[in-house]
Order: sequence, then C-alpha cells, then structure tokens
Amino acid sequence: MLRTHTCGELRIADVNKTVTLCGWVQRTRDKGKLIWVDLRDRYGITQLMLEEGVNKDTDIETARHLGREFVVSVTGTVRERESKNPNLPTGEVEIDVQQLDVVNAAQTPPFTIEDESDGGDELRMKYRYLDLRRNPVKNNLIQRHRVGLEVRKYLDSQGFLEVETPFLVKSTPEGARDFVVPSRMNSGEFYALPQSPQTLKQLLMVSGFDRYFQIVKCFRDEDLRADRQPEFTQIDCEMSFVTQEDVLQTFEAMTNHLFKTVKGIELGKWQRMTFADAMRHYGSDKPDARFGMTFVELTDMVKDKGFSVFDNAEIVIGITAKGCGEYTRKQLDELTDFVKRPQIGMSGLIYARYNEEGIKSSVDKFFTPEDLSRWAETLDAQKGDLMLILCGETVKTRKALGELRLEMGKRLGLRNPNTYSPLWVVDFPLLEWDEETQRYYAMHHPFTSPKPEDVALLESNPKAVRANAYDMVINGVEIGGGSIRIHDKSLQQKMFAVLGFSPEEALQQFGFLMNAFEYGAPPHGGIALGFDRLNAMFGGQDSIRDFIAFPKNNAGRDTMLDAPSTIAATQLDELCLSLKNK
Ligand code: AMO
Repeated sequence: MLRTHTCGELRIADVNKTVTLCGWVQRTRDKGKLIWVDLRDRYGITQLMLEEGVNKDTDIETARHLGREFVVSVTGTVRERESKNPNLPTGEVEIDVQQLDVVNAAQTPPFTIEDESDGGDELRMKYRYLDLRRNPVKNNLIQRHRVGLEVRKYLDSQGFLEVETPFLVKSTPEGARDFVVPSRMNSGEFYALPQSPQTLKQLLMVSGFDRYFQIVKCFRDEDLRADRQPEFTQIDCEMSFVTQEDVLQTFEAMTNHLFKTVKGIELGKWQRMTFADAMRHYGSDKPDARFGMTFVELTDMVKDKGFSVFDNAEIVIGITAKGCGEYTRKQLDELTDFVKRPQIGMSGLIYARYNEEGIKSSVDKFFTPEDLSRWAETLDAQKGDLMLILCGETVKTRKALGELRLEMGKRLGLRNPNTYSPLWVVDFPLLEWDEETQRYYAMHHPFTSPKPEDVALLESNPKAVRANAYDMVINGVEIGGGSIRIHDKSLQQKMFAVLGFSPEEALQQFGFLMNAFEYGAPPHGGIALGFDRLNAMFGGQDSIRDFIAFPKNNAGRDTMLDAPSTIAATQLDELCLSLKNK
C-alpha cells in the first residue's frame, strides 16, 4: 500500500503516530510562515501543516507550489490541532509533515470541486470524473451501492436467485422504441437491447426457478426527462405460484426494509388505491399522497345557472387550497396561465376566494352568495381558503387539475422530500385505445393477465377489462410496476389478437414464449422497480441523473465519451450498413 491510512480516518487517539496519506489537494492556505493543506480522498479530508524553520525547506517549497487537485503523498506525525474544526470527523488532528511529494500534478479543474460547484450541467457532464469527486454525487453512488447490497441480501433471504439474462435479444414491446445492434455474422439482421428482461424472466419461471431477481440494465429509446434515462437499472423480480396479493406483500416488505436500513424510516402499512379512484381523486395514476387537496365533483351543483362554460362541460371539479384566500390578482393570473400552458391545455381557471368579506369568485355574475356558500361547503373550504375549479372533458380536466394540485402542493410546501407516502395503485385497465393508430395497446405489457372475472369482456368490451396489474408509487413517482402474467397459450393468443397481431405475427415475434407455455408453465407474476428512481427518492431528489455514475444528457448523449458517434467505413461495411446503400 502506498498509504497507511485514508484521509477520513485519523482521530485524536492516533496522535503521535507516523502515518502516510495519499490524496488530492482540496485547498492550500499560505500565511507566510505557516502553510496548511487540506488533503482529500473518498473518505474525508485531513489537514497537513508546515511551518518555516520547523519543517523541511523542500517540503515548504513543494507545499507552496501545490495546485488544486494535485495528487500528493505525505508522511508525517499526527498531532492535536490548536484550533479544532468540529465540522470535520478528522477536525481534532493534523499532520506535522516530514515528507511531501507530488505524485501527479493536475490542471486547474474547469469547476470547483466543492459541495456547491460553480460548474453548469454541461461542464459537469463533460468532466464527470471530476464531478464524481464532489461529495453530493459521490455520496449518491455510495448510497446506491448500499441499496443494491441490501436488495440482494433481502431477496436472497426470501429465496430469490439472481440470474443474468442476455443483452443481445429480440425486441420485446414495453411501449418504447428498441435500441438495436446490427449482427456482423447474420448480415442484415439485428439484435435488440432489452427494454426489460420481461419474457426471459417468465421463461425462468417455466424453467422452475420459482423466485428470480436481477439488478439489471434496461434500454429504451424514448424521450428523456428528469426521471428517465435511455439506459437505466431495474430491480427486476418474478415469482411462481403467487397471487397479486403475494407480490404486493413481498415488495411492500422489501421496500419497507430498504427504507428502514437506508433511511431509518418505518413506513408502516401502505395505502391501496384503484386506478379509477386515483384518477377520480388525484387526476393521476401516480398520486402524490403526501398531502390531501383531493378533487371534489361539483358537476350537478353548478349546472343550469346560466354559465355556459359549466353547462357545456362533461365534468366540473375543484380543489381547496388552505390558507390561500388572500391570493392576489397576480397570483391568480399565474395559476390561470399555469393551466393554460399547452402541456396542460385548459382554456381557463375558475376561482373563489373565501376571506373576511365573504366568498368572491371569478364568476359572481352567474352565482348567488348562497350558491357560493354551497360550493364552499362541498369543497370543505373555510374562511381564508381558495377554491380552484376546472371544467371540460373528464380525462383531460382531471389530469389538468392533478397538475394544478401538484403546483399548489409545491407552492404551499406540502411536498417535503423527507416525508414518504408509499401506495399501491391496483386494478389498472388492461388496454388503452390509441386514436392515432386506431388500435388498442397493452397498458402495462402484452403478457399481463386480465382479471379472471373480466376475461369474458375481452372481445365484447375490451376497454372495460381490468388487469391484474399494479404500480408502486411513492410521493407521486412511479417507482415500480408489475402484474400477474398470462401463463396459458390460448389466452395469450387471444390477447395478441386484441392487440392487433395476426396469428402469424404473434407466432413470429412471441412463438418462443407461447411454445414454452405448452411445456408446463406455472402461474407467475412479478414486478420491476426503477433502481435509479428508488435511489433518487432516498436522496430526496426528482432527477435520477446524479444517482448514475455516467448518465446521458437530455439529448441522449454522453458528452464525456462523445457518444453516439460515427463509426469507420470498414465497420459499416462489415455490418452491411454501408451509408452508400441507404
Ligand atoms: P415498467 O415499464 O413499468 O415495467 O418499468 C418498471 C420501472 O422501471 C422504471 N423505469 C425507468 N427508469 C428510468 N428511466 C427509464 N427510461 C425508465 N423506464 C422505466 C420505472 C418503472 O416503474 N417488465 C415490466 C415489469 C414487470 O411487469 O415485472 C417493466 O419493465 O420506475
């Protein structure tokens, strides 16, 4: 070893020991006669001290010329500091330097390696290896390592086996585009990188593995957001001979265990909510249940009062923002602009302020004070509160009010990243109709089983069929999703038919799975949790990027590696992808 200790290790009990440390120069303070150097490594910071006339002249000279991020090696004696730093675990001691060597000089980094860096996102990504020296990002990765370890220990204790599945596979539809890899040995043919190991884990159940898990990379070519990366990691799991209830209980217990070991938080028993209720009360299939402000339906109460906007609306719904009765005109205009943004697409917002002068609404012309009192009663609004109402087509209006609710939650500080409200959303619809392509899509994926009592509706009323599918939602974030699968060939065939596959197409794409179902497929089901999202949740952040060592930017680029990039003409030729053939 080139060192005897790390930079985070030395304490008062080590005084008088001769030690050798290696690390990076965080900063130097040169006060003429005295020089201090902060030496940093993954484990912490230790102070070195040199004094003219006491320490060696050559070492003083070396210390004077140290730049930020130089790699140095130092040997010296541990001594008690005169002025201690209670904020640093090593803050009671310093090193009286006997030998200081520069191991490797460094250029001045393009941004400061401090908790609060002056580097913008682009710069941090381009020099990610320097960004990773910063405590916040480094600690995220340490946490990620711990969470992964706990997951493995826990699932092992429950009898799950980790099995690796291949990355060069055949496309499995999970709703995104595939990343494809051309095959040199099979010219003109392509592998797909897995969007998830869905079909493979099902095959492992057919093999009798009974309980499988894998912490595994998945690849999806989709539009990126703060909580989406083109390659991300799942805790992917599957179990045989289980009901939905078994899966929910197993993964509720695992997640509670993780919260307990990683965060020291007891989550207790989780709420369950049907998809229909989640949409009705929160306008979202991933409700943020850290706060109330649930929707109240006013449709019947407000009709036939001469206000055509309400009269023509399919639904009129509202929320009450506690303590916002004194919102100014400017604040209300901001909220109106918020719901009118193209992403939300409402044509306006109706509000009623309940303050000392009574209830004042933006539609006073049409409604009497008694009408408004009834609104307040229904919406449970008291003096000091603000009622916010949206109307229109049901699905769109609910979604819009869901966004407004989140915005109000944010403004009112109700979305505290250190409180956690986990829940299961259950009873998802099996299918979603797409207007553009005029066909049904599987809401989860095509292998999800319908509720047995709804199977009969599969042909007559597909929209009404509910799935044995569930999502794990924490603080408004979809952390995981899963389902009980179809394990019967004829039901799977029927499902592909509803999804618009011809029998030949179904056989060509999924013959391997349907064939396997003929060799003794056990009933099975599972779930996959977004590992990056779970880590971001533990870290109290919305963005998963700083929980991944080398993430892509929003354009899907790795600006450090400069990928994707063009490849040599010879490589293209070998793959029969020559550009001139295009
Ligand atoms: P699903 O598609 O719901 O299910 O994915 C499971 C979880 O993976 C996470 N996730 C992502 N995280 C980061 N970036 C992305 N682009 C991204 N896409 C998904 C989410 C999500 O809840 N095979 C099924 C699981 C099953 O049925 O067992 C599946 O992949 O947290």
